[in-house]
Amino acid sequence: MISSRHTSSSAATAAAAMATPSCLLLPVLALLSAAFGAAAAATVSDDVLALVVLKSGLSDPAGRLAPWSEDADRACVWPGVSCDPRTGRVSGLDLPAASLAGRLPRSALLRLDALLSLALPANRLSGPLPDALPPRLRAVDLSGNAISGVIPASLASCDSLVSLNLSGNRLTGPVPDGIWSLPSLRSVDLSGNLLSGTVPGGFPQSSSLRVVDLSRNLLEGDIPADIGEAGLLKSLDLGRNSFTGALPESLRGLSGLSSLGAGGNALSGELPAWIGEMAALERLDLSGNHFVGAIPDAISGCKNLVDVDLSLNALTGDLPWWVFGLPLQRVSIAGNALSGWVKVPGDAAATLEALDLSGNAFTGAIPPEIANFARLQYLNLSSNSLSGQLPASIGRMLLLELLDVSANKLEGDVPPEIGGAVALKQLLMGRNSLSGGIPMEIGTCSSLIALDLSHNKFAGPIPMSMGKLTGLQTVDLSDNLLNGTLPMELSNLDSLRFFNVSHNSLSGSLPDSRFFDNIPYSFISDNAGLCSSQKNSSCNGVMPKPIVFNPNSSSDPLSDFGPSSPSNQHQKKMILSISTLIAIVGGAVIVIGVITITVLNLRTRATPRSALPTALSDDYHSHSAESPENEAKSGKLVMFGRGSLDFSTDGHALLNKDCELGRGGFGTVYKSVLRDGQPVAIKKLTVSSLVKSEDEFKQHVKLLGKVRHHNIVTLRGFYWTSSLQLLIYEFMPAGSLHQHLHECSEESSLSWIERFDIIIGVARALVHLHRHGIIHYNLKSSNVLLDTNGEPRVGDYGLVNLLPMLDRYVLSSKIQSALGYMAPEFTCRTVKVTEKCDIYSFGVLVLEILTGRRPVEYLEDDVIVLSDLVRGALDEDRLEECMDPRLSGEFSMDEATLVTKLALVCTSQVPSQRPDMAEVVSMLEMVRSPQGTPEDDLV
Ligand SMILES: *[C@@H]1O[C@H](CO)[C@@H](O)[C@H](O)[C@H]1NC(C)=O
Ligand SMILES: *[C@@H]1O[C@H](CO)[C@@H](O)[C@H](O)[C@H]1NC(C)=O
Ligand SMILES: *[C@@H]1O[C@H](CO)[C@@H](O)[C@H](O)[C@H]1NC(C)=O
Ligand SMILES: *[C@@H]1O[C@H](CO)[C@@H](O)[C@H](O)[C@H]1NC(C)=O
Ligand SMILES: *[C@@H]1O[C@H](CO)[C@@H](O)[C@H](O)[C@H]1NC(C)=O
Ligand SMILES: *[C@@H]1O[C@H](CO)[C@@H](O)[C@H](O)[C@H]1NC(C)=O
Repeated sequence: MISSRHTSSSAATAAAAMATPSCLLLPVLALLSAAFGAAAAATVSDDVLALVVLKSGLSDPAGRLAPWSEDADRACVWPGVSCDPRTGRVSGLDLPAASLAGRLPRSALLRLDALLSLALPANRLSGPLPDALPPRLRAVDLSGNAISGVIPASLASCDSLVSLNLSGNRLTGPVPDGIWSLPSLRSVDLSGNLLSGTVPGGFPQSSSLRVVDLSRNLLEGDIPADIGEAGLLKSLDLGRNSFTGALPESLRGLSGLSSLGAGGNALSGELPAWIGEMAALERLDLSGNHFVGAIPDAISGCKNLVDVDLSLNALTGDLPWWVFGLPLQRVSIAGNALSGWVKVPGDAAATLEALDLSGNAFTGAIPPEIANFARLQYLNLSSNSLSGQLPASIGRMLLLELLDVSANKLEGDVPPEIGGAVALKQLLMGRNSLSGGIPMEIGTCSSLIALDLSHNKFAGPIPMSMGKLTGLQTVDLSDNLLNGTLPMELSNLDSLRFFNVSHNSLSGSLPDSRFFDNIPYSFISDNAGLCSSQKNSSCNGVMPKPIVFNPNSSSDPLSDFGPSSPSNQHQKKMILSISTLIAIVGGAVIVIGVITITVLNLRTRATPRSALPTALSDDYHSHSAESPENEAKSGKLVMFGRGSLDFSTDGHALLNKDCELGRGGFGTVYKSVLRDGQPVAIKKLTVSSLVKSEDEFKQHVKLLGKVRHHNIVTLRGFYWTSSLQLLIYEFMPAGSLHQHLHECSEESSLSWIERFDIIIGVARALVHLHRHGIIHYNLKSSNVLLDTNGEPRVGDYGLVNLLPMLDRYVLSSKIQSALGYMAPEFTCRTVKVTEKCDIYSFGVLVLEILTGRRPVEYLEDDVIVLSDLVRGALDEDRLEECMDPRLSGEFSMDEATLVTKLALVCTSQVPSQRPDMAEVVSMLEMVRSPQGTPEDDLV
C-alpha cells in the first residue's frame, strides 16, 4: 500500500531528477558534506541523506530509485532498503538487476554506518571499489557489474565480513593478503575477474571458510600449500586459471569438501591416491591439466562422488573399475590416452546419466551391458578404436539423447533395434566402417535432430522413413555407397539446415522444398546425378563438370558411320555392360537411368536377328520414290531428291553383318550400294519400340531430309514399319574425325590448316542446323566424317526428336554415350536444353582437335577432363604443352590461343555464357583472316 503511493509519482520525480540534478541537489550536497565533515552522530535522517547522495551518484534509467526522495524522514519504506526494526537505521540495501550504473560513492556508503548487507548484483556499476566500507558490513554482493581496479587492501580489515561476492567484474591485481584470516569470513567469490599473480597463503586453522571460488581469473603459481588448513571448506574452485605444480597435499584433510574444481589449469604430476580420503567429495573437476599416469583406484574411496571430470589430461592405463562401480551420474575421461577394453560389470550401479570416454585408445567392442545404464542420456565413445558391431541393446536405452560413436572401427550392420532409442536427438556414427543399409527403423527415432552416418560403407537407398523425422536439422550421409533416389518424403523436413549426401551414388531429382531448392552444390556433389527440382534452377551450381561415362562400357568410340574396325565384335558385347556406367571426376555428375538403359539394350538384343531381313523382304521390292501417299499401308523405302530408288543388292544383304560400319547410341550402321552404284550408309534404329508414331516419325525425318549443306551428311531417305526403321545417308569413305585424331600414324595426321578447316566446317554445319531449328544433340568426333576432299561432314544430327518424350536421363545416356561432350544442363530434368548444348559439345570437340587428346582420359586411378586440363594450362600460361605434338611447329601459337579461348568459352557451364554458333563462326574467321581471305558464304 505504502509503496504503491510512492510509485505513483515515481516517474515524474525521476524525470525531474534527471532533468535538473545539480539544481535540485546542490544545497543538499553542501549540507551533507558539512554534516559528514563534522562527524556528527549518525541518525535516521542521516541515512535518508546518505541514500539520496548515493542515488545522485548513480544513473537510474529504470527509475528504480525514483521514490528515494530527500523529503522523506525515513528511508525504510523505499524500494531496496531494509532497516533494523529496533533502531530504524538502514541495515540492508538490496537492488539486484536494477540497471543502476555509475560509481559507488565512498562517502555516502560510509555514512550508512549501520549497513550490514550491500547487495547490488547484476547492475552496471563501474569504477573502483570504495577503499573503505561501512564498519559493520557482513555481506557484500557486487557480482555481475563492471567494477574495475584492484581489490583494496583495506578489505582485509573488514573483520565483520561473512560473505564477499565480487564475481563477474573487471577487477585486476592480486587477491589481497590477509583476506583468508578475516575471522568471520565463510564465503569468498572472486571468480570471473582479471585477478593475477599468485594467491597468498595464510589460511588459519580457525578459519570459518566454507566456500572459496577463485575460478576464471589469471592467477598463477602454486595453489597455496596451506589451503587445506581451512578445515570447514565445502567448496573450492580454482578452475580456469594458470595454476601450476601439484595438488597441495593439505587438501586430503578436507573431509567435508564436497566440490573440488581445478580444471583448466596447468597442474601436473600424477593424480594423488589420497583424493580418495576426501570422503564427502561429490564433484571433482581436474580436467584440462597436465596430469599423467593411471587413474588411482583409490578414488573409489569417494563414495559420494556424482560428477567426475578428468578429461583432457594425459592419463593412461585402463578405465578404473569405479567408473561403473560408484553411483556416479556424470563421468568424463575424454581426451586422455586410456586403453584396453571398456568392461561393464553386471552389477553396475545404474545411476549414470552422462558418460564421455571419447578421444582415448579404447579397443574391443562396445559392451552390450552399456544398456543397463537405463538413465544414460549422453554417451560419447567417439575417437577410440572400438570395433565390432553396434550392440542391438542400444535400442533399450529409452532416455538416451546423444550417442556419439564417430571415428572408431565399428563395422557390420546398424541393428534395426536402434529404432527403439526414441529419445535420441543426436546419432553420430560417422567415420567408421559400418555397412549394410540404413535401417528403415531409424524413422522411429522421432526426436532426432542430428544424424551423422558419413564416411562409412552404408549402401542401398535412403529410407523413406527418414521423412518422418521432422525435427532433423543436420544430416550428414556423405561418403557412403548409397544409391537410388532421395525419397520425396524428405521434403517434409522443415527444420533442415544441413544435408550432405555428397560422395554417394544417388541419382534423380531432389525433393521439393525450399531447403532443397537452394541446396549448395557441395552437399550433393559426386553422386550418380542429383538434380534440383526447382523450376528456375539453372543447374549451373549443381553440375559443374562434364558428364562422362565409363569408356569400357560404352559402345563408342566407333563411329556410327565410319568403316568397321576389328574390335567391332568386342564392342558389341560391351554394349550390354552400359549399366555399369560410373560417375567419375571429382565433382562430376552422371545421371543415368541405368536400369532403363539396360532394359533398352536387352530389348534390342532380344529382337531376333533373323527377323530383320524377313521384315524387310516383305516389301523390299516395292520401293517408291517420294510418294508418301503410296507408302501408307506397308513399309516403303522413301528416297528424297533425284537419286536412284532401288538397292543394287539383295535385301538380305542390306543389313548384312559383314557390311556393318559401326554402332552408335541410336543404332547400327550398315553399308549398302544403291542400284545406280552409289554407296549409302543405312542406319537401323535400335530404339524401334520407342520410336514415335509413323506420322511424327515421317514428319521429322522429312525435316531432316531437307537439310542440305556441304558440311552435313545428307539424309537421303528412310524406311518405316512399326518394327523396323531405317535412315539412308550418303556414304563417307574417308572415316571419322575420331579415327584421324586418335587412330592415325604420325605421318598421316591432320595438319594445322586441315584442323582449322574442320573446326570452321563443323561450326558452319551447326549454324545451318540451328537455323533450321534442329539441335544436333550428339556432336562428337566420331560423328564428324571426312569426305574425299578432307572436308568435314557432320552426321547423326537431330535423332533425339525421333523418340517419344523419354526421360531425359535415358536420352542423354543413349545419345551422348560419347565421353565428355555432354553439356551439364543435360542432366537436369527441369532445365530446357537448347542449341547451347551443341555449342558445349563443339567447344569440347575443338579442344580435342587442337590437343589430339580425348575429351576424357582414364588413367589408372585418375580421370583427366580435357577442358579442365586446357583451362588450367591456359591459366598457367603453358598452353603450348597441350597442343597436339604431331602439329609440331606448323602453326601460330597466337592463333591457337585464340581458338582455345573460344573453345573454352563454348564449354562454359552456364548455357547463357556460351556464344551462339554464328558468333563462333565469325570469330573463327576473324582469327584466320590475317592468313587467308574470309569466305563469303557462311552456310
Ligand atoms: C556470487 O554471485 C554470482 C552471480 O550473482 C552467483 O552465481 C554466485 O553463486 C555467487 N557466489 C556465491 C559463493 O554465492
Ligand atoms: C564427443 O566427443 C568428441 C571428442 O571429445 C567431441 O569432439 C564431440 O563434440 C563429442 N560429441 C558430442 C555430440 O558432444
Ligand atoms: C559434405 O561432405 C563432404 C564429404 O564428407 C565434405 O568434403 C564437404 O565439405 C561437406 N560439405 C559441407 C558443406 O560441409
Ligand atoms: C543399389 O545398389 C545395390 C547393390 O549394389 C543394387 O543391388 C541395387 O540395384 C542398386 N539400386 C539402385 C536403385 O541403383
Ligand atoms: C522464375 O524465373 C522467372 C524469370 O526469370 C521469374 O519471373 C519467376 O518469378 C521465377 N520463378 C521462381 C519460382 O523463382
Ligand atoms: C577399362 O578397361 C581397361 C582394360 O580392361 C582397364 O585397365 C581400365 O581400368 C578400365 N577403365 C575404367 C575406367 O574402368
